[in-house]
Amino acid sequence: MARQFSTVGVVGLGTMGAGIAEVLARTGLTVIAVDVNEEGLARGLGHLEHSTSRAVARGKLDEAGKAVLLGRITTTTELADLAECDLVVEAVPERMELKAAVFAALDGICGPDTVFASNTSSLSITEIGVHTGRPGKVVGMHFFNPTQVLKLVEVIRSVVTEPEVVTDVVALVEQLGKAPVVIGDRAGFIANALLFGYLNHAVRMYESRYATREDLDAAMRYGCGYPMGPLALLDLIGLDTAYEILDTMYHQSRNRLHAPAPLLKQMITAGLLGRKSGRGFYTYD
Ligand code: CAA
Repeated sequence: MARQFSTVGVVGLGTMGAGIAEVLARTGLTVIAVDVNEEGLARGLGHLEHSTSRAVARGKLDEAGKAVLLGRITTTTELADLAECDLVVEAVPERMELKAAVFAALDGICGPDTVFASNTSSLSITEIGVHTGRPGKVVGMHFFNPTQVLKLVEVIRSVVTEPEVVTDVVALVEQLGKAPVVIGDRAGFIANALLFGYLNHAVRMYESRYATREDLDAAMRYGCGYPMGPLALLDLIGLDTAYEILDTMYHQSRNRLHAPAPLLKQMITAGLLGRKSGRGFYTYD
C-alpha cells in the first residue's frame, strides 16, 4: 500500500508554490509553507487569498470551506519548521545553487524518510539529488500553471530514485485529484519538451512580423481548439521562465527548435515578463 503523506512542506510561495500549497490543503493535508522573508510570505498569502476567492466566486468552494482550507496552511520563514514533514515540495526560482542550498539544509533538518520533491521545470532531478544525503528519496513533482486548475503533474524519477518513492508520489498526485505521468530525468520532461518548441516558433513568427499577436493567438484558439494562443500563454508562464526552460533544453539537446528567439531576451531585459510584471506580449491591469 502506498505511503500516506500527512504534513507537507512547501518551500517558495511564488505563483507555483502558492498554487501547490492550495491544492495540497484542498485535499486535507497539513501544509507548512516557507519563504525567505515576510514580504515573500505576504505575496504568497496574497496569491492564496486571490485564488481561493476566485474558487468561491466560481462555485468551487464556499466561504466556510475557504476558511478551513486556509487554516490548514501555516507560514514561516524558517526551514527548520519543516522538521516534522514527511514530504517537502520545493518551488524556489529555477537556479541550481538555490535548490541545492535548500535541499542541503533540509537534509539536516528532516528525518531520513522524508521525501524531497522539486517542482523544477528544467533542472536535473539527478543533480538536485546529489546535493542531499538521500538521492533515492528525491523526485520531481512538476505542476502546471494554473496549478489549481490544470490536472497534469509530471513525476520525474532519477536513475537512483527508489521505486517506492515514485509509487507513493503517484498515489499522492491521484489523491489530489490530478493526473500523474512518470518520466525519466530529461530537460523538458514530456509536456514542456513538446510545448516550448511551438511557443518559441510563435515568438519567431511574431518577431518577423509574420502576423499580429492577435491573429497568431486566434489561429491556435479557433483553428486548433487550444484554450489560449501561444503569446497569451507565454505571458501566463512568464517570459523569464520560458527563456530559462528553452535555454536549458537547447543546451542539453542543441536542437535549434529550442534556441530562444532573440525577442524573448529583449523583452525580459526591458522588464516585459508577462502577466506578473503587468506587460508582456499584451498589457494587463
Ligand atoms: N480554484 C479552483 N478552480 C478554479 C480556479 C481556482 N482558483 N480558477 C479557475 N477555476 C476553474 C473554473 O471554475 C473553471 O472550471 P469549470 O470549467 O468547471 O467552470 C475552470 O477552472 C476554468 O476557469 P476560467 O473559466 O476562469 O478560465 P478559462 O476557462 O478562461 O481558462 C485557463 C483559463 C485554465 C488558464 C485556460 O485558458 C488554460 O488552460 N490555458 C492554458 C494554460 C496552460 O497551457 N498552462 C501550462 C503552462 S506550461 C507550465 O505551467 C509548465 C511550466 O513548467 C512552465
